[in-house]
Amino acid sequence: MSSTDAHSYSEPDKVRVFHCSLQLAISFAARTLEGVAWLSVERADLKAPLTLDTRDLEIRSIECGGRALDFHLSARDPILGSRLTVDLPPAGDLVAIRYATRPEASGLQWLNPEQTTGKRDPFLFSQNQSIHARSWIPLQDSPGVRITYEARIQAHENLLVLMSARHKRREGTEHFFRMDLPIPPYLVALAAGNLTFASLGARTGIYAEGPMLAAAAREFEDTERLVEAVERLYGPYRWGRYDLLVLPPSFPFGGMENPCLTFATPTVIAGDKSLVSLVSHELAHSWSGNLVTNATWRDFWLNEGFTTYLENRIQEEVYGREQALMEQVLDRLEIEKDLREFAPADQILHIDLTGRDPDEGCTHVPYIKGALFLRQIEQEIGRPKFDRFLKSYFDHFAFRSITTAEALDYLRRELSPEIAIDEWVFESGLPQTAPRAASPRLEIAADAARNFGESHSPARNLPAARWNTQEWLEFLRILARPLPMEKLEELDSVWHLTGIGNYEILDEWLLMAIESSYQPAFERLERFLLEVGRTKLLKPLYTALMKTESGKTLAHSIYARGRGGYHTITRTALEKILLF
Ligand code: BES
Ligand code: ZN
Repeated sequence: MSSTDAHSYSEPDKVRVFHCSLQLAISFAARTLEGVAWLSVERADLKAPLTLDTRDLEIRSIECGGRALDFHLSARDPILGSRLTVDLPPAGDLVAIRYATRPEASGLQWLNPEQTTGKRDPFLFSQNQSIHARSWIPLQDSPGVRITYEARIQAHENLLVLMSARHKRREGTEHFFRMDLPIPPYLVALAAGNLTFASLGARTGIYAEGPMLAAAAREFEDTERLVEAVERLYGPYRWGRYDLLVLPPSFPFGGMENPCLTFATPTVIAGDKSLVSLVSHELAHSWSGNLVTNATWRDFWLNEGFTTYLENRIQEEVYGREQALMEQVLDRLEIEKDLREFAPADQILHIDLTGRDPDEGCTHVPYIKGALFLRQIEQEIGRPKFDRFLKSYFDHFAFRSITTAEALDYLRRELSPEIAIDEWVFESGLPQTAPRAASPRLEIAADAARNFGESHSPARNLPAARWNTQEWLEFLRILARPLPMEKLEELDSVWHLTGIGNYEILDEWLLMAIESSYQPAFERLERFLLEVGRTKLLKPLYTALMKTESGKTLAHSIYARGRGGYHTITRTALEKILLF
């Protein structure tokens, strides 16, 4: 099934890469990976060249069967990078590319020891989604072109190297990996650091820096149960082990579903498991995303909408209906906000991202609108029938990359649900009939916000002693803005929000502090902005600072100091806000 990917130069219908064997050395001094990529290709058109995606790679030589090949690297497009065209000999299907990455590779983040928890050794991690694989491996960087891979990676002896692979082995400073199931290039992943491991269950475990390990293992102790819950709902977990890797706080996302090894931000370690939905989400991608994959970034909602729906079902199975409902209600507020602010074209599930960076498609629309679409089908046909459908969808398309059209054809054929499919998928806004969740616990938090904000009910009377993240977020979001200074002072003196260790609550609190110029929180704000790299948490704070003259000055001075520690993805997002 061919589908054109607007974000790849490759022409897989002519020559297709199906396996990649890497031999790379990690140099922290030079901030480079250096070595060879052997690409195995299938040639439907023997006259056609091999076309690859690259960005900022230094190509040293290319050969096939011992013969040097001519190649051409095209001018660098700011979004797509450079097309690498390799002239192939009449026969031969294994191409060796000798190359090195550059320190600014968009898919790699190199951390100094000071940016780690242990402060002693450096750290490296990759983030390939959406199109950053090409900045460290010359590949056909399209989610429609699946590959298997193996790798031999050399690193300093203090460092443990990990990849998104099913098999791994260490021999001194060399680390060997093999992924024998076909995956899209955005799921190839690499990390190296002074890491330790704790087992969580028969198939599950956690890697983290030493000082972080115990807290992380406690927070994520239910991981094995989560895997069992998804298997009951949607069929077997097909990837062998499921491990988590907790990264330093500069990781630009909440989580990334690298196969066998989810990457996660430490900012979800809340102490009460209230942000474990992140694990449910990344784990769900083992079915929706990694097993059945979006063919192009236009079809991203197939990954994230299905995953957001699955995530909530897993949460309900393991943590109960109340928790799942609270998460649904908060999601609904997020999508409504995006729909108020976005241009109509950006509210469409089957979004046209031609000429744009596909990372721009990562909004609440594919996630939450996508999940609401599936939830409406569930409500229309009933849960048991929809569960059977999803299980068969994952089996039917297993290890394939599919387009929106293919997914919808299958949906219509198997279920023919009586809902406005085309309106959901090809139009902007939310259909009137979109499901609406209600949460009794959040109602209580919302009432408390109204009593505290509008009448004179004191902060010490708030029923907040056992509130979790979702209840605090609801409470803080319902409060009138800007909240008067005395109210902020009172909340802080009773509930110590400036000193709270929960990053999601702290993020919302610091936002209120900016809006009300509540100075006692500004020292914490500054430390937060310098420590955390998770774009979703940083964006609202910088945006709020940019609304006043003194805030602008502060934002620019903090950014000047923080920039070196931020990931390229985070920088790109923040520099739009700071108007560079
Ligand atoms: N695959 C995404 C992260 C991603 C999307 C990276 C697009 C680059 C481009 C991951 O599964 C994800 O959705 N992460 C969320 C967390 C989740 C709980 C909603 C995040 O990082 O915020
Ligand atoms: Zn996701």
